[in-house]
Amino acid sequence: MNSFANSLVVRDCILHGGDYSPEQWEPEDWRRDIALLKQSGGNVLSAGIFAWARLEPREGQYEFAWFDAFMDLAEREGLQISLSTPTASAPLWMGHRYPEILRVAEDGERFAPGMRVNSCYTSPIWREKTTAINRELSRRYGRRKNIVWWHVSNEYCFHCFCELCQAAFRNWLQARYGSLEVLNRRWNTAFWSHTYMDWSEIIAPGGKREISCEALWVDWKRFSTEQTADFMRHEIAALRSEGSTLPVTTNFMAAHEPLNYWKFAPSLDFVSLDSYPLYHDRRDNPITAAATSFHFDMLRTFKGGLPWVLMESSPGSANWMPVMKPKRPGVHRMECLQAVSHGADAVLYFQVKKSRGGREKLHGAVIDHTESADSRVFRDVKEVGDLLAKLRPVLGATIQAEAAVIYDWENRWAIDACCGPRREGKDYLETCQAHYRALWQQGIAADVVSSEADFSGYRLVIAPMLYMIRPGVAEALESFVQAGGCLIGTYWSGIVDETDLVFRGGYPGPLRQLFGIRSEEIDALYDDEENEVIAEPGLLPDQTRYRAVTFCDLIHAESASVLARYGRDFYAGDPALTVNTFGEGEAYYIAARTGDDFLTAFYTALASRTGLRRPITGALPKGVTVRERGNLLFVFNYDREPHTVEVLPEDLRDFLSGEPCTGRLSLPPYGVRIFEKLPS
Ligand code: GLA
Ligand code: ZN
Repeated sequence: MNSFANSLVVRDCILHGGDYSPEQWEPEDWRRDIALLKQSGGNVLSAGIFAWARLEPREGQYEFAWFDAFMDLAEREGLQISLSTPTASAPLWMGHRYPEILRVAEDGERFAPGMRVNSCYTSPIWREKTTAINRELSRRYGRRKNIVWWHVSNEYCFHCFCELCQAAFRNWLQARYGSLEVLNRRWNTAFWSHTYMDWSEIIAPGGKREISCEALWVDWKRFSTEQTADFMRHEIAALRSEGSTLPVTTNFMAAHEPLNYWKFAPSLDFVSLDSYPLYHDRRDNPITAAATSFHFDMLRTFKGGLPWVLMESSPGSANWMPVMKPKRPGVHRMECLQAVSHGADAVLYFQVKKSRGGREKLHGAVIDHTESADSRVFRDVKEVGDLLAKLRPVLGATIQAEAAVIYDWENRWAIDACCGPRREGKDYLETCQAHYRALWQQGIAADVVSSEADFSGYRLVIAPMLYMIRPGVAEALESFVQAGGCLIGTYWSGIVDETDLVFRGGYPGPLRQLFGIRSEEIDALYDDEENEVIAEPGLLPDQTRYRAVTFCDLIHAESASVLARYGRDFYAGDPALTVNTFGEGEAYYIAARTGDDFLTAFYTALASRTGLRRPITGALPKGVTVRERGNLLFVFNYDREPHTVEVLPEDLRDFLSGEPCTGRLSLPPYGVRIFEKLPS
């Protein structure tokens, strides 16, 4: 397998460019567009994504001459090509002739030909057609020097509920459970008399079908993930069958709920992401920024920290936003540097040029409908292009994190499927992000891992709402703490096993000894209700009060010591924060959902207690944070307001101007400064 880091070092620059659809334009346009892209500091085009109907206008009749001409031109112009398989959007003729290739939605209705990402990954006809076009592409272009990588399909995303998929699901279940007796026991189907007597009785959950079996939901999503990853491998195999050894990627979408991306990563040479944070709506920008960093760090962790690619981001406004806001001055530069500082070795956009028609004709692009360089967006892109050219020193540099936050897809599915303890607002992802944010705000890098990760290299592991504990996870967490690690867990943990069966003997099940607590009940709060967490001596300033919202776990300290107690209601005085010494390490249990006030205080205290390395010491204004990559320190102001930082180290110089750092820095809204560490 090619190492992506190596392949980019060969290119010797940070790639910059984006999606381009030559099929929508004439050769004279290509020439002008390529000239403009180069003027903006672009060096890569992502092509072929939606070109299938022009490459195979009628079944089996390939027309590649026009694409050859485009590829030749790109090569002559010195551009790299990210070449896509066109499988995210089938030609219309195919769906009309072979309806089985079209996905069936959860409501049981089959999609009509049209739209995109609506194919059935099980359909043998779909697999045959995609193999044929992928092989053709690979045979023709797989050895071209300017193809930088294969971009397989585009944003795999949904489940298909067709009969073929359901039959495949039954086979998958048979392989997993072996017998119906085992499946019935593991899913507790005696509930409501839903015992399966024949495999054919098992149907996909959702819509007007079975929704009462929570284990069925989780297994259906596991199956759909594996089926989609299997289809991706099938696409890759077709490319490889023609001898192409180019690195392969596919573009993920943040923590997209339906698919567990961890199952895809091993089959890819490197990973890439589409990122569209909304800095210009009315949300709190630091929350958006930290969530974006969380996704970047998760992506980075998929391949053990190897550099990754920002495959799509918008140079202007994204037209699918509820209200289309232009990016505010500075935001584009800030977003691109955020990606680079988190390990991206390429910054690409959707899109290089706005279409003249169709659903995305208003979506932000490097080249607007004016088709000139005279636009604010173009100038912003050019500024980034010039800057990326200077940032070559970070190419290939990886980021070492001493902390990890567990975000686990299967756990998320199980939490969401569970009827209780609240219908809405369980917010597993947002909770993981809130804990992550408390480190992020201090400039502490974290990996974002699954619950099956190897924890041994970390000092601190945060496992929010670990409701589902799969085999081996409790033991791995115990060994981590035993060996001196610091673990943080929360309410709503240790409730069910991998098939959603509740652990017998009480919560938090297999984590009880580790945390040294027992949970008896959980109080779910209405949105307008609050409780309080009041600190006791030990970790946080004595008697400080913090908000408790949404969930308050009513726990008993067994071997744990109490660090804070509830302030109100019938459980006032009961433990709300505990710590248990376990082997050489400590396990903290946060019983209530809290706000950022508590999380900031708690993780600031823990960062010092555990000696987590921080690039700076001292508090940063909210929304201002730092990130190290290689020898560079990036200082970001993600906020809409200007801020001054007083705590920068002085052994730095400005990477662009060479000026020494005085320790004090004023940043405009969305401002970013890059510093270089001086040799000590
Ligand atoms: C996704 C798709 C692109 C485009 C953009 C628009 O990420 O992959 O083709 O539709 O959204 O933001
Ligand atoms: Zn299907």
